[in-house]
Amino acid sequence: MKIAFVGKGGSGKTTLSALFIRHLAAIGRPVIAVDADINQHLGPALGLTDAQAAELPPLGGRLPEIKEYLRGSNPLIRSADEMIKTTPPGRGSRLLRIVEENPVYAACARPIALDEGSVRLLATGAFTEEDLGVACYHSKVGAVELLLNHLLDGPDEYLVTDMTAGSDSFASGLFTRFDLTFLVAEPTRKGVSVYRQYKDYARDFAVQLRVIGNKVQGPDDLAFLRREVGDDLLTTFGQSDWVRRLEQGAEPPLKSLEPANRAVLEQLRTEAEAAYELRDARRYTEQAVLFHRRNAESWANAKVGVDLATQVDEGFVLGGFPGEFTADGASATPAGATA
Ligand SMILES: Nc1ncnc2c1ncn2[C@@H]1O[C@H](COP(=O)(O)OP(=O)(O)O)[C@@H](O)[C@H]1O
Ligand SMILES: [Mg+2]
Repeated sequence: MKIAFVGKGGSGKTTLSALFIRHLAAIGRPVIAVDADINQHLGPALGLTDAQAAELPPLGGRLPEIKEYLRGSNPLIRSADEMIKTTPPGRGSRLLRIVEENPVYAACARPIALDEGSVRLLATGAFTEEDLGVACYHSKVGAVELLLNHLLDGPDEYLVTDMTAGSDSFASGLFTRFDLTFLVAEPTRKGVSVYRQYKDYARDFAVQLRVIGNKVQGPDDLAFLRREVGDDLLTTFGQSDWVRRLEQGAEPPLKSLEPANRAVLEQLRTEAEAAYELRDARRYTEQAVLFHRRNAESWANAKVGVDLATQVDEGFVLGGFPGEFTADGASATPAGATA
């Protein structure tokens, strides 16, 4: 399952994604955590020291190696140099699984031991001032898009991304690459306006969007969110003393999180499972191809000097429906869709 947390800065994306990740790990689910926000805070939220977080290898810095690996023996992709963030997989491409060892994880993922369970963390790397609003910004997030487009994940396996909701994520196809997107919103007009913007972009792409109200302090907050968000409001996470202690530097065990808030984390998992049932492998692949063609036409053909639309393997569908995954998480490789 591919899950994104989006929302306005300060809404609680990192807090809630880290808690969700810890909850999943505590109940034994394999998890890859991805920090794709402009402000890279997921590592520390999962217990890394600032020094350890600063040493995380940035995905954006390893793009040539990542591309070389993913391209495999796909005859439609002649070199890693001709591979862009949206280049879709095809026959001969190497696909990634949540639970495996591969050169991409070896180069970029770092294991994190939690108080219960453990996860692997991937980080896009910090965004510098110069990155914002220019191509490099997209290429950093682009590494995540590339990985998601090559990931064969089964039910009960998670990739959880802490992401920004800014318009930059709409410039690429990244926002369409998830089974479920949790939009974290404080009960304020600004929080809700980010929801509306996201909803507008998401509508045309069948993006499954659910709102988590955060720092909700009472019936008026709840009524506000219900009124503004309607049926998209999944649940609310309360103003939490436990989170405040964490923020003050204590390391409270997950077990001691307020029961109502812990129940919300389980609710998110149930919702994720339901979203996975709606997964449509064909649509997912078609959208990858759509964004690839758009990128090819708008800038990449000119930059790379070849027609990148020829990279599309028309007969290929990534993954498949849940029944196509065997118990060990490997793809049963549906006909015409070889891995
Ligand atoms: N439910 C909550 N209760 C108390 N404090 C919270 C809660 N959610 C988030 N916070 C605090 O709000 C601040 C912003 O949260 P953060 O997760 O960093 O937001 P974002 O990643 O969206 O920018 C942090 O100081 C965090 O501890
Ligand atoms: Mg954050």
